[in-house]
Amino acid sequence: MNSRVTDVPYEAARRRAFAVISHPDAGKSTLTEAIALHAKAITEAGAVHGKAGRRAVVSDWMRMEQARGISITSAVLRFSYRGTLINLVDTPGHADFSEDTYRVVSAVDSVVMLLDAAKGLEAQTLKLFDVCRSHGLPVITFVNKWDRPGRDALDLCDELAARAGLQPMPLTWPIGQAGEFHGVLDCRDRTMVRYQRIAGGAIAAPEKRLESAEAAAQQGVAWWRACEEADLLAASGGGFDHERFLAAEASPVLFGAALLNHGVRPLLDFLVDFAPAPRPRMDATRRPRYLDAPFSAFVFKVQTGMNPAHRDQIAFARVCSGEFERGMVVTNGTTSRPFATKYAQQAFGRQRTTLDVAYPGDVIGLVNATALRVGDTLFGSGPPVRFPRLPSFAPAHFAVARPTDIGRGKQFSRAIAQLRTEGVVQVMRSQRRGQGTAPVLAAVGPMQFDVALHRMEWEFGAPMTLEHLPYTVVRRLSDPSQRSLVDTGRRSEVLVRDDGMELAVFAGQVELAVLQRLWPDLKLDHLVGGIG
Ligand code: G4P
Repeated sequence: MNSRVTDVPYEAARRRAFAVISHPDAGKSTLTEAIALHAKAITEAGAVHGKAGRRAVVSDWMRMEQARGISITSAVLRFSYRGTLINLVDTPGHADFSEDTYRVVSAVDSVVMLLDAAKGLEAQTLKLFDVCRSHGLPVITFVNKWDRPGRDALDLCDELAARAGLQPMPLTWPIGQAGEFHGVLDCRDRTMVRYQRIAGGAIAAPEKRLESAEAAAQQGVAWWRACEEADLLAASGGGFDHERFLAAEASPVLFGAALLNHGVRPLLDFLVDFAPAPRPRMDATRRPRYLDAPFSAFVFKVQTGMNPAHRDQIAFARVCSGEFERGMVVTNGTTSRPFATKYAQQAFGRQRTTLDVAYPGDVIGLVNATALRVGDTLFGSGPPVRFPRLPSFAPAHFAVARPTDIGRGKQFSRAIAQLRTEGVVQVMRSQRRGQGTAPVLAAVGPMQFDVALHRMEWEFGAPMTLEHLPYTVVRRLSDPSQRSLVDTGRRSEVLVRDDGMELAVFAGQVELAVLQRLWPDLKLDHLVGGIG
């Protein structure tokens, strides 16, 4: 069906897919908007309207999020900058940690780690960073809010090295300490980028480049101190090294203030010039799927209810190879069933436009994709391909779910199956509790339960109650004949995940240790990096 001849590797080379990881309140929404502003994807930032207005600009699903009082969705912003097509996959911004965030990371080729200048590496940033590290993703560090009093720049770089094990490689260095932000030193050519403050940061801030002598004359001691500090880091191995960045051993560091749109352009330029373009992805048999192979993609997110008028479902898939053309019929590698792509879309904030073609690195939104599940592989012509299952992570929270109204058992079961499909929660069975009516829901973060409770009631009309179980430790039970050794009382039991895997769960490490001492032959495996 494809009559055009397209150079897929060329198209892939001019694409970037990245995500921003940060602790809540570090400024992710503000930075996202500032990036879109610089790329001219929007004309005016909502900063003048405050947080709510700003978020409404960038997140199409804000209304639903507001209704729920939490940010639970991942938007994909797609725009072009200097001839490069950028897919910015947004990670959910709530304080709790959910599997959704993990999965987003599997769909991007690099990440921007956003730090608050006053707080440095915070807890959630570190957790997310660990996930990125397990994927070998290159990390760019952006120190935000330099317009406010904060920590010392060298101190922040030390923390990056000590706690994340990343060699900091400053690309820009702030002139003046946090709270006195006029510009940055461009470490590569030793010029100064001077920013002018624009009320409310609504439009891209005018900037001017100054040669070293002029910068020194204007900034005096602050300029020389910036040069000295940047030199100090360069001398201790922090000179820019592209290979080490790609190998995720070292992280380029930039300083800025997203709210004022200061320091954002160098970040975008770096993404275009140095961040990795899509590369061949390993399939489930560990063979590379080359970029110019026929179309293939994997689903990393399924979302329902984005349009309250009717219950739609969008599956977000990351293209890995070949050319996608709207309307083509692809095969779902999991079910071997064909899937028509008539309603492919791309997302940008409130706008939702039809997407006609896509290449590796792009994210396509497939509307009414009720047959698609998180982790599914899609492929076009040629032999079947399967990408490895997305890791589903070791849950740490468990609860028995029961319909509030027994008469609505059917809706309840259907809705639970839907939540499972979307990966909102993991669903398990326990022999103790009978089949069907009382599944055990498992989650990485407790917020996943809140989302499930809310949606069961308001979206599916099947309210449920949750009885929380005391388990916190989980292992894989490799020998089913040993089930009775674990399934003993209130402090441990065996749960069967819906793919048949048996999981031994324990109230705590003590319970696990006691059983292991009692039964030295008990075979329990760690769930390394997840249970997928
Ligand atoms: P998040 O998505 O990571 O949760 O953070 P968000 O962008 O919502 O920013 C959190 C707060 O930090 C916001 O303030 C925002 O204005 C502020 N902020 C973000 N970047 C900068 C910056 O570069 N400099 C300064 N000074 N502040 C910044 P808020 O008071 O919660 O909201 P608002 O009332 O200002 O909109």
